[in-house]
Amino acid sequence: MKVNQAEFIISAVGPSQYPTDALPEIALAGRSNVGKSSLINRMINRKNLARTSSKPGKTQQLNYYKINSDLFFVDLPGYGYAQVSKTERDKWGKFIENYLLNREFLKLVLLVIDLRHPPSKDDQAMYSWLKHHGTPLCIVTTKADKIPRSKWQQHLKIVKETLGADKSDPVVLFSSELGLGKDELWQIIEEKIGY
Ligand code: GTP
Ligand code: MG
Repeated sequence: MKVNQAEFIISAVGPSQYPTDALPEIALAGRSNVGKSSLINRMINRKNLARTSSKPGKTQQLNYYKINSDLFFVDLPGYGYAQVSKTERDKWGKFIENYLLNREFLKLVLLVIDLRHPPSKDDQAMYSWLKHHGTPLCIVTTKADKIPRSKWQQHLKIVKETLGADKSDPVVLFSSELGLGKDELWQIIEEKIGY
């Protein structure tokens, strides 16, 4: 997809604020600080449209980014951030769960995983939950630039095994730093939204 226009639309704190454009939505799920916002920026070639931070737990709402008149990226709050109170965590949990279960325009969830480490318990739970509910997903392993290329395949294997990924799940090796995996991921997204 050629991105001609990308704009931030809204930080939604509830369903009444979700856009009414009826465009397909691609949501990004993953633990806090894994690189979800950076991935969006790389996909649209903008340095800092999606707010990134070296401090985890920055994104606490559903942030909508409109790409051309074709789709929305929906940046979900990261999970597994210990410094947040349990009440807060439960509140986010319900909020995200509700979005993932009921949003009719949601076409694909990008489950963003750090290629460097085996997926966490939270990653595993998120994967199982999405599969259980039949939500279409694509596993995106990011920060590939942080490990030597010679180790990519080995790490990829550990990620898939730890998640218990299905053979049919698409998996994209990604680096927001290098732009690696960008074209492949766009292809998967385009296919999902019937572009
Ligand atoms: P929350 O919004 O807190 O959930 O975090 P996030 O998942 O949106 O992470 P974000 O994109 O803000 O990135 C977190 C940190 O990781 C930042 O310092 C990024 O620069 C860095 N980062 C993200 N992706 C990559 C990558 O592919 N390679 C490298 N080297 N650094 C990355
Ligand atoms: Mg973020």
